[in-house]
Amino acid sequence: MPQQVKAVIARAKGAPVEVATIVVPDPGPGEAVVRIQACGVCHTDLHYREGGINDEFPFLLGHEAAGIVESVGEGVTEVEPGDFVVLNWRAVCGQCRACKRGRPQYCFNTHNAKQRMTLLDGTELSPALGIGAFAEKTLVAAGQCTKVDPAAEPAVAGLLGCGVMAGLGAAINTGNVGRGDSVAVIGCGGVGGAAVMGSRLAGAAKIIAVDIDDRKLETARKLGATHTVNSRTTDPVEAIRELTGGNGADVVVEAVGRPETYKQAFYARDLAGTVVLVGVPTPEMTLELPLLDVFGRGGALKSSWYGDCLPSRDFPMLVDLYLQGRLDLGAFVTETIGLDAVEQAFERMHQGDVLRSVVIL
Ligand code: APR
Ligand code: ZN
Ligand code: ZN
Repeated sequence: MPQQVKAVIARAKGAPVEVATIVVPDPGPGEAVVRIQACGVCHTDLHYREGGINDEFPFLLGHEAAGIVESVGEGVTEVEPGDFVVLNWRAVCGQCRACKRGRPQYCFNTHNAKQRMTLLDGTELSPALGIGAFAEKTLVAAGQCTKVDPAAEPAVAGLLGCGVMAGLGAAINTGNVGRGDSVAVIGCGGVGGAAVMGSRLAGAAKIIAVDIDDRKLETARKLGATHTVNSRTTDPVEAIRELTGGNGADVVVEAVGRPETYKQAFYARDLAGTVVLVGVPTPEMTLELPLLDVFGRGGALKSSWYGDCLPSRDFPMLVDLYLQGRLDLGAFVTETIGLDAVEQAFERMHQGDVLRSVVIL
């Protein structure tokens, strides 16, 4: 029986989000219905609302979530009812060239649930990042569900579904930060903060946090930064060089997504260092660099999509580290709110007041 549940939708470009009743169908083959317990408020939800991603309104927002599998469709083997799961953006196919070469992060044929959730009048909803979890229940592909230890609070586990995973993964998966490395993180919001935390986890000896906001630098210290640089008042390239014996950092993570901060990252790395771009640029941004400066260095210029994560490997591992007290994921939860406060949470995000507001259901 299709169910009616409460959810947060963005009906039209730029309009405030609203709580509406939606219809969640029974799971079809390969699908699962998940009872959502917690879902973080992410910038991408705001981008959807502003029409910055596409114009397939109305959107069902929310994509950083954990909950309990309620029912599964035919042929589902990944999870069963009662499992505590963290949701990811897309299920991989297992069949394409990337999957077969053991790089499912770059699967060509990812998928979400085939059926659509709707409004009461039958209007189809576009779920944010194929999830749509500011909802009492949502419908996803079973492969979007990863089972983790149910001892973890849903508000914390759910964070791994997006921003925190992106930042942690940018450092540990893409940047391959290792024991003794020097790391600089430019932009220490939720994503950069997680990169700082990931660098500490990986055993980095020096972790230099760079931001233009002193509040963010203070938080970065709590997350593991050993040095902080306010780039509004201090040249970050010079400061990073100075702090690394004149060499530059082994890994520089750019978590802002702007040409000027990318350039800082580029020039602040060691000759053999790695730059990881995890901040998301907008389509009109371009980068100009002397080609000779690109040529005259080794190392690697990389970008990190979703932290190069493998949900089935990374989500349970990070939840275990959290439960052992070795990874303070709880530090990212600034406040917990109800479904009706998502619009206010966008406002606070804009002001830079929060790392994460998390909706509890
Ligand atoms: N130099 C250094 N830091 C900067 C600069 C700058 N020129 N401009 C902004 N910042 C800092 C902000 O002060 C803030 O702390 O970058 C941080 C960005 O953090 P958030 O706004 O919390 O964004 P976050 O969720 O961390 O995402 C970072 O990745 O997912 C994308 O769209 C997202 O591009 C954004 C980036
Ligand atoms: Zn997100
Ligand atoms: Zn594939």
